[in-house]
Amino acid sequence: MNFGVLIMAAGKGTRMKSELPKVLQPLLDRPMLDYLLKSVISCNFNFNNISVLVGSGGEQVEQHIQNFNDNLNNKNLKIKILWQHEQLGTGHAVKCAMDWWKELDALIVLNGDLPLLKSETLYDLTEKFIEKKPDCAIISFIAQNAGAYGRVIREKSGRIKIVEFKDASDEERKINEVNAGCYFFNVKSLLKVINNLSNNNAQGEYYLPEVLTLMNAENLTVEAYSVPEEEMTGVNTQAELANVTKIMRRRILNRWMNDGVRIISPETVWVSADAELSRGVVIMPNVQIWGKSKIGENTYIGSGAVLKNAIIGKNAELVAYTVIENSILKDNVKAGPFVYIRDNSCLENNSFAGKFVELKNSHIGENSKVPHLSYMGDATLGKDVNIGAGTITCNYDGVHKNKTVIGDKCFVGSDTMFVAPAEMADNSATAAGSVITEPVPEGALGIGRARQVNIGGWVRRKK
Ligand code: UD1
Ligand code: CA
Repeated sequence: MNFGVLIMAAGKGTRMKSELPKVLQPLLDRPMLDYLLKSVISCNFNFNNISVLVGSGGEQVEQHIQNFNDNLNNKNLKIKILWQHEQLGTGHAVKCAMDWWKELDALIVLNGDLPLLKSETLYDLTEKFIEKKPDCAIISFIAQNAGAYGRVIREKSGRIKIVEFKDASDEERKINEVNAGCYFFNVKSLLKVINNLSNNNAQGEYYLPEVLTLMNAENLTVEAYSVPEEEMTGVNTQAELANVTKIMRRRILNRWMNDGVRIISPETVWVSADAELSRGVVIMPNVQIWGKSKIGENTYIGSGAVLKNAIIGKNAELVAYTVIENSILKDNVKAGPFVYIRDNSCLENNSFAGKFVELKNSHIGENSKVPHLSYMGDATLGKDVNIGAGTITCNYDGVHKNKTVIGDKCFVGSDTMFVAPAEMADNSATAAGSVITEPVPEGALGIGRARQVNIGGWVRRKK
């Protein structure tokens, strides 16, 4: 069966009270729409004909989909953009996309605000639709609080229809089975009725659910498949977004805990949907792991860590309060407490960045140590280097960022200032308190400081 998946994302999302289109509202650290797209793409039916209908804030959504396409692993898959220039309702939305879907066998229509829908569930529902061959199947759930959802009316005749909350009678409003906003259509059957939708209702909109009523009148078959509420919670307000975020956060943590990650206090830990953790990782309270971070086996992440696109190897130890952005820490690295590592820095195996250290765009060789109170910016350190406390690379001359290159086995005295561009050959050293402005040759000690003068009796004279 030739399936198309249409995601409706043209609505204003008025109730979010935000400039940002609803489907781009951030859930954890990604736009809400991405979660639904990922579920559709990773569904084992291998849907390859997927469109997103945009309208309100459409340029922004279109731009986002283009970026999303550029980052897809499957280069044969491209999510299409379709436009609904005027938002006249969900029925009108599907009609606007008709040229795209009218030649297909079957069409799945999804509300854009269903970030919790799982690919497995979408698979099961699609399978059921294929097996039972109705003209239309809608997805419903039993709501704890049915709020403003459309109510599913099961008539004595067995017919099923949906009444929107605003059009519903008091009796109908008491029904707690609601429309999830996920529909399966036989395309030929949908074509028979879609042009007959009206907007004669409380909102003056063309409702997609009215298709059910029209199909009933044509004696076409309509079914409703039920799923757990948790996967079908729609997002219309900031409070609902926070609720969905809570569910998604816990789902991600449970997934990693099932894989052997130890999370001491799940209530306080945040992990993005794109992060990858390994077995034996220990996460202490109040940790945030964002973006495409990757944490290797048995690595310990102490409290207060904020990691963003951090690639960390095995058996590393992040002592409390480390902030790592867009950087790599290889196996057995130790970092923190209170360290900031950023902008493509890399710490090779067994290296160490300790207390109150900032590393920016710097490479720290194997077994090298930057233990205390240092700034390494645009620096390359070889192996077995020891950086004394308080050492700083003066990498910025007011115009350019300049490099510091330190060879293998160098010993840098405390409080050395490298006025970059600066260079130390292998096996060299600097004296404590030096301002290094010349290259230090191999084996040499660079001293760049004033000699000490002692003024005898000075203290007594002052008194
Ligand atoms: C809709 C359903 C309701 C269901 C609920 C589930 C209708 C009329 N009602 O209500 O039965 O219980 O979803 O969450 O469909 N959209 C467009 N173009 C439009 C209007 C909407 O693309 O002209 C998109 C929106 O961006 C959104 C989706 O359709 O992603 C649903 O719209 P929304 O306004 O959230 O519908 P609800 O009022 O929640
Ligand atoms: Ca909705």
